[in-house]
Amino acid sequence: MSVKALADHVDREQAKLLADLQTWLRIPSVSTLPEHAGDCRAAAEWLAARLKKLGFEVATKEFGGHPILWAEGPLVPGAPTVMVYGHYDVQPPDPLNEWVSPPFEPTVRGGNLYARGTADDKGQVFCVVAALEALKATSGALPLNFHMLIEGEEEVGSKALKTFLTGEPDRTKADAIVVPDVNHVAPGWPSAETALRGIVQGEIHVRTLKADLHSGLYGGAAPNAIETLWHLLERLKGPDGRINVPGIYTRVKRPSAKELKAWRALPMKEKAFVKEAGAKALNGERAFSYLERIWARPTLEVHGIVGGFIGAGAKTVIPAEATAKISIRLVPEQRAKEVAKAFERAVKRYAPAYADVKVTISAASDPVQTPIDAWPFEVLDEAYREVWKRGLSYTRSGGSIPIVPLLQQRKAPVLLTGIGLPDDGLHSPNEKLTLSQLWKGIVFFGRYFEMLAEHG
Ligand code: BES
Ligand code: MN
Ligand code: MN
Repeated sequence: MSVKALADHVDREQAKLLADLQTWLRIPSVSTLPEHAGDCRAAAEWLAARLKKLGFEVATKEFGGHPILWAEGPLVPGAPTVMVYGHYDVQPPDPLNEWVSPPFEPTVRGGNLYARGTADDKGQVFCVVAALEALKATSGALPLNFHMLIEGEEEVGSKALKTFLTGEPDRTKADAIVVPDVNHVAPGWPSAETALRGIVQGEIHVRTLKADLHSGLYGGAAPNAIETLWHLLERLKGPDGRINVPGIYTRVKRPSAKELKAWRALPMKEKAFVKEAGAKALNGERAFSYLERIWARPTLEVHGIVGGFIGAGAKTVIPAEATAKISIRLVPEQRAKEVAKAFERAVKRYAPAYADVKVTISAASDPVQTPIDAWPFEVLDEAYREVWKRGLSYTRSGGSIPIVPLLQQRKAPVLLTGIGLPDDGLHSPNEKLTLSQLWKGIVFFGRYFEMLAEHG
């Protein structure tokens, strides 16, 4: 009955909802670029206004970075409290020329909405807010208490939010914490993640000379910073995919036989994954299945290398300095601070005496496992059965959401579930949200919240 009412509401409102989401997506809230600080604020304000319209009380928390929104509504004594966590910040849109339509001009093509932030995470936050609006419109009032926690620094490590929640741990008291910043394991297969990887992010900076030199006059004897950097990176991670940071595997545990078996039953096959990745073949630690490699093994990636002459044409020069932007993903039981230290030590050890090598760590977040033995998971499964015609699958994800370990501090169950799809292209050019997922997702979250009220 209520699913139909919600679906009718969404049908009627579709054009307006799409236009509103597009408005929000047009704001380039790239958290890592200082020149977009004003846009981050504007994106927060846009959402604050939307939540106020819904009757929520909205507070803005400031800790020197991008604003954090805390919104509460309505107040239903005796009813459960649901917290919703999400983020309005986005990753940089580069490389720009790979986008079919510009990243901040949201465009519909073939049933998908393309723009930076469609799936990660504005579109998903919007989905939940629209669900609250739909529920209110169709049933007169919201049946639960909601705490909305929407931040603007997720993509850079959630520093401000960590300060906020460490200082006020009771903010994380709730009957359920819903995190729609993840994806379904496959179209038609709703899922919840039981673990996320942690992350240590940083840079390795190498200087070998006072200034760039003529490569003919000095080449062969004067040390090249890029060459020094590549030897260093090669030592840190070999072609076999193993990370050569002493101690890094000490706390790494294999998933249980039961969990590995459950993964084999998921509708994810290596061949399809290769295709989704747009790769010719996979690499990495061959002793582990590709799912184990991305979900349950630490990894080291180089994101960018800065140095030398990269303009048009040629320049025969020995670069004096070079930088690599890197990250290490961590799996349950590993500790981000410990790994960051071990990484710094390893780089220092591998650095040749002729070079000045510096490591800077910009963010460190622990991995997390989310227990699934709480009643809101049973209701989640029921709601998915009703709306998606299939119950929950449990997966892990290789991605990181830095605040999740702290969301668990007051023992509220954390439900990592969203309406994205594996091929949404997060952080990539042509990121998209499949519109049918959005429309169904609004109905789904509306129904889920209603069912939580009935069960609580
Ligand atoms: N939403 C993603 C993480 C994610 C995506 C988890 C899909 C599970 C499934 C999040 O916005 C993200 O990209 N996090 C960053 C955090 C980092 C920059 C500190 C990441 O994982 O790279
Ligand atoms: Mn995200
Ligand atoms: Mn992201």
